[in-house]
Amino acid sequence: MRRVVDVGLGPRSYQVAIGPGLIDRAGEELAAAYPRRRTAVVTDAHVAALHGERFIGALKAGGIDASLIVLPPGEETKSFEGLADLSDRLLALALDRGDVITALGGGVIGDLTGFAAAIYKRGIDFVQVPTTLLAQVDSSVGGKTAIDTPRGKNLIGAFHQPLRVLADLEVLQTLPARELRCGYAEIVKYGLLGDFGFFERLEREAGAVLALEPEALSHAVHRSVQMKAEIVAEDETEQGRRALLNLGHTFGHALEAETGFDGALLHGEAVGAGMALAFRFSAALGLCSGQDAARATAAIAAAGLPTRMADIRPEPFSATRLIAHMGQDKKAEGGRITLVLARAIGDAFVAKNVEPDKLRRFLIQEDAV
Ligand code: NAD
Ligand code: GLY
Repeated sequence: MRRVVDVGLGPRSYQVAIGPGLIDRAGEELAAAYPRRRTAVVTDAHVAALHGERFIGALKAGGIDASLIVLPPGEETKSFEGLADLSDRLLALALDRGDVITALGGGVIGDLTGFAAAIYKRGIDFVQVPTTLLAQVDSSVGGKTAIDTPRGKNLIGAFHQPLRVLADLEVLQTLPARELRCGYAEIVKYGLLGDFGFFERLEREAGAVLALEPEALSHAVHRSVQMKAEIVAEDETEQGRRALLNLGHTFGHALEAETGFDGALLHGEAVGAGMALAFRFSAALGLCSGQDAARATAAIAAAGLPTRMADIRPEPFSATRLIAHMGQDKKAEGGRITLVLARAIGDAFVAKNVEPDKLRRFLIQEDAV
């Protein structure tokens, strides 16, 4: 079944289409997005090999001429070097501001292409065709675009909304199981932060979603995108409520920074462990019940995601170093730590000025040193 979510942002509103087989119908699905009947499709080598020709063929069948730009896969591509390479290749195609770029890939390609589109000739439109579960439920919607620097992830970027998002559920069939689990972490995040009913359904359907059973998958992606769209429409540039989408991310980024961004710990895995830590910290502070923290932890673990620091590596993490990373997070203000914590499953809130001593005690209780 094809479902559509509207992202209501006034003149920058757009639709997210979700369903099976949408890539094969890309020509008709995306025709209105390409007034000049041409686009440059940016992708990575994995996605190009699996879906590139099919996507270009579908665009051609709809009368849209597409040039393919293939970049190396991996987080390293989301860098100044990757941006320079992509910008040069877009310039070589002589695209101008009336043209539209297309991102075909996961969050790496979407974030990089979106940022290149935001600054190419001072801004050009782009379309997102997300091919990972994480990109479908999170990164392709909401207009956050960025690259990483050696000092941290997503530190250089812009808000630049896509013209349209096309999430083909069948394309996930080629995604490795580990990447599927990473996307699932972001799905369970929506239940944990704001929809207890959705969380309960995920408790029952985690296996079905991860097995890509059509109805369970379609519902999970649709509900996730609906929640993201609703939050983004209310707070596009993260002045308030949008920060809830960072549940688990501040703990997660600190774990990623300590593990190195070399694939040992994937972003979604870090978010899984980070959400479990955020719930257990909320319980330690007396904000939510121990039962809720245990239930959140169990739901994350049931998807095969890490929930404890010891699941990530046997050597203990340093509490001091983790706290230092958390103080450098984009959400931190003047070095003071901001975390998304919870009063219950489905009721998260932004906690500013978290006391470092309480955080340190908690991390040590969680086996940091
Ligand atoms: P990714 O783009 O690196 O994709 C993961 C791997 O899957 C890559 O090797 C890729 O080549 C491969 N792949 C993609 N689609 C495939 C398919 N259909 N079949 C087989 N292989 C496929 O990673 P990701 O998890 O999609 O995204 C992570 C990135 O997203 C991070 O850089 C993170 O910072 C960013 N992110 C951004 C936002 C946002 O709001 N902009 C939100 C969450 C995450
Ligand atoms: N992924 C967090 C956000 O889009 O705000």
